[in-house]
Amino acid sequence: VPVEWSSAGVDLHVEWDRSRRGRLRLAEVLRNAIRAGRLTPGTRLPSTRSLAADLGLARGTVTKAYEQLAVEGFVLTRPGAPTTVAAWSPAPRAPTSPSVQPPRPRWDLRPCRPDVSAFPRVQWEAASRRILQRISTDDLDYGNSQGHPALRTALAEYLGRARGVVTTPERIVVCNGYRHALSLLCTILADKGVPSLAIEDPSLPAFRELAQRAGLRTDPVRVDHRGVRVEDIDAAAVVVTPAHQYPLGVTMHRERRAELVELAARGVTVIEDDYDGEFRFTQPPVGALQAIAPDHIIYAGTASKTLAPAVRLGWIVLPEHLVAPVCELLELTERQGSVLDQLVLAELITSGNYDQQVRRQRSSYLQRRRRLMAELQHLVVPAAPRLPRGIEAGLHTVFPLPDGLSETDVAAAANAESIGIDVLGRYWMHGGAHPQAIIIGYAAAPDHGFAPAVFALKTVLDRLTP
Ligand SMILES: Cc1ncc(COP(=O)(O)O)c(C=O)c1O
Repeated sequence: VPVEWSSAGVDLHVEWDRSRRGRLRLAEVLRNAIRAGRLTPGTRLPSTRSLAADLGLARGTVTKAYEQLAVEGFVLTRPGAPTTVAAWSPAPRAPTSPSVQPPRPRWDLRPCRPDVSAFPRVQWEAASRRILQRISTDDLDYGNSQGHPALRTALAEYLGRARGVVTTPERIVVCNGYRHALSLLCTILADKGVPSLAIEDPSLPAFRELAQRAGLRTDPVRVDHRGVRVEDIDAAAVVVTPAHQYPLGVTMHRERRAELVELAARGVTVIEDDYDGEFRFTQPPVGALQAIAPDHIIYAGTASKTLAPAVRLGWIVLPEHLVAPVCELLELTERQGSVLDQLVLAELITSGNYDQQVRRQRSSYLQRRRRLMAELQHLVVPAAPRLPRGIEAGLHTVFPLPDGLSETDVAAAANAESIGIDVLGRYWMHGGAHPQAIIIGYAAAPDHGFAPAVFALKTVLDRLTP
């Protein structure tokens, strides 16, 4: 029975048979924990005073157990410093986790990545400090699963002003990024008995897998130069990227937008993924589709491109009748997201720092795009592209390959040279032959790397060209 939990120290979980107390037993338990890898090299052990108090032992017993382990080489004791598990202790090697990220390529031209080096660290830190100074004790407790009202209010103002979204704070639900939004919505759709979700073809494979795991069938709908072919949608729900189709990069034509709105008014659930709508460079801005039919279209956005994917904040603007079901599901699965981060984002928006960041990045991404495009001129001119041409927007471009070149061969050879690129092939849903193309992101790599990266890519293409 612990004698004093409130003493300074670190926690250590020790399990033993209380009938066999003493130094030898404690040393044995700790030795086993180190051998099993439960206590890893470098782990700081509690002070003898605190462990003795926690375990109800004499301090001398703990001291002797530590000394014994030090003699055996399991722990390291130094005067005036905490006892730590020795670096050379015979702990088993931790198995490598499958979730470990592969190292960043030397030239990171992978799409879907913003320039995280431009994350507004100073502004985020200042906003965090302000929030910590004034956050109420109530806000530190379990709160509103819909998202903190301060963020929903800030988002309603921002989305209305910058993206043309028609909403009130009451219709916004805060979540952990778009992927989370889609997951929540797919679960709700499956619960309602919707059998299938129409998905743009091509589109991100992870999103379709997510829908399938929620129990929905996924129906491909082809995309052409006017965006998704609305007349081909034959499902009760559809996900679209109207501002900038991912990955092809086209904008949905106004006639298609009107057809989609009509479909939504007839009861089809339309989910609008506005993942990079802020980053339109030379084209006239196109507002959210949701604005035309706010009672029928679900709008989803994210901070992953404007700030950084690590922020894990996204938002869903819902027709009124869907707010309660989404919040109930969130309450059950998440309870709520991080209120501290939500308040920091609200502070960034209301202070104007978020707009400044978006505007700075918009200009930076346009420069980067132009520099990349200029470099890509040095590559073999692709044969007549059989793909719809993307607009000057977002963080990526699709580069069709000349006839005879396989995109997977090109990507493998490029990856071997540490050039990170993506292939269009993995985005298609329909089978059969596809035009070969690579997808190049221009946001993540420093732009002074574009010339050597494209030169390296050219070497790869020259080598592979029959
Ligand atoms: C089409 C599309 N939608 C949404 C997202 C954003 O996802 P999240 O907010 O989960 O990071 C991405 C990210 O790459 C994307 O490519």
